[in-house]
Amino acid sequence: MDIVVSGIRSTGNLHLGNYFGALRNFVKMQETNTCFFFIADYHSLTTHPHPDDLHGNVKKALVDFLASGLNPEKATLYIQSDLPEVAELYLLLNMNAYLGELERCTSFKEKIRTQPENINAGLLTYPTLMAADIILHRAHKVPVGKDQEQHLEMTRTFANRFNRIYGVDYFPEPVAFNFGEDLIKIPGLDGSMKMSKSEGDMNAIYLADSPEVIRKKVMRAVTDTGPTAPGQPRSQGVENLFSLMKIMSTPETLSYFEEAYQQCTIRYGDMKKQLAEDVIRFTAPFTARINQLQADAPYLSRVVKQGADKARESAAKTIHEVREIIGFKKF
Ligand code: ADP
Ligand code: TRP
Repeated sequence: MDIVVSGIRSTGNLHLGNYFGALRNFVKMQETNTCFFFIADYHSLTTHPHPDDLHGNVKKALVDFLASGLNPEKATLYIQSDLPEVAELYLLLNMNAYLGELERCTSFKEKIRTQPENINAGLLTYPTLMAADIILHRAHKVPVGKDQEQHLEMTRTFANRFNRIYGVDYFPEPVAFNFGEDLIKIPGLDGSMKMSKSEGDMNAIYLADSPEVIRKKVMRAVTDTGPTAPGQPRSQGVENLFSLMKIMSTPETLSYFEEAYQQCTIRYGDMKKQLAEDVIRFTAPFTARINQLQADAPYLSRVVKQGADKARESAAKTIHEVREIIGFKKF
């Protein structure tokens, strides 16, 4: 059976993009693989969350994991910072990670551009921490989106380099995994190409949003003044609404509004009302489970403890063997 590892850096509530891009695949994979799924709260520290917020945000993400159908009896669900072994392997990998290759990483260069006031060593070594997450369980497959391909490539470099330096065949080469056609990018409500937490609250619909909030967000989504001639290309905002409708609504609804656009009779207000109701229909069962889970502190603490125990068992074995390979010996 393949070993599968993946994590989500987002802490706090998860949005439809996170669900379709990550969680939905995790849920499928847990059926036929040995899976480790975690909330990457160490990674989240690169942006300096306030201590008052950290725990609550991890809890929200955990609840959303469970509400999405991740089953702690099938997959190992854990919080990254519950595994000190991650930190140890990260330290060891950093010894053979070179400044040049870390600096060339696209996500690092992007951060230099977007947050020049906080270029910390954690950002620089983000790929070694991610590699540690993955090879700690000697994973074969990593379900992630396209944006993570370079990080995966670096993970393979670090794993292969370890094998070469120590003359062993210890770490498998992990490969990115997705369900081909199933990989979809959910666009934002504000006319941006991607639904994302960092784009502000009106861009994203969260699994935990109430019907009122969903209606408000969808009704405020960016559109344009409407088509004036048949065949007129759609603006990005309108295109996004159609993309969401394709995922959330029935084919009949979609073609009704596509036709109306073609005929220049479309009323975006009507389209948004319909889309909002279809989104609510989709999120309602999630929201119900979220509310239930949030109130069940004993269950959450059992899940986290059980996940940490199982993950540490796997991690401790690897660390033990890695220390031996490197040459640490007991006195
Ligand atoms: P955020 O954009 O909220 O910061 P992350 O970048 O932390 O989300 O992504 C967490 C996971 O969710 C990743 O696997 C990513 O590929 C997926 N994901 C995030 N946004 C989208 C989206 N708009 N469409 C599809 N997948 C997404
Ligand atoms: N970097 C990933 C993201 O931003 C999150 C992540 C951290 C991850 N560690 C991982 C993903 C290990 C897969 C495996 O989405």
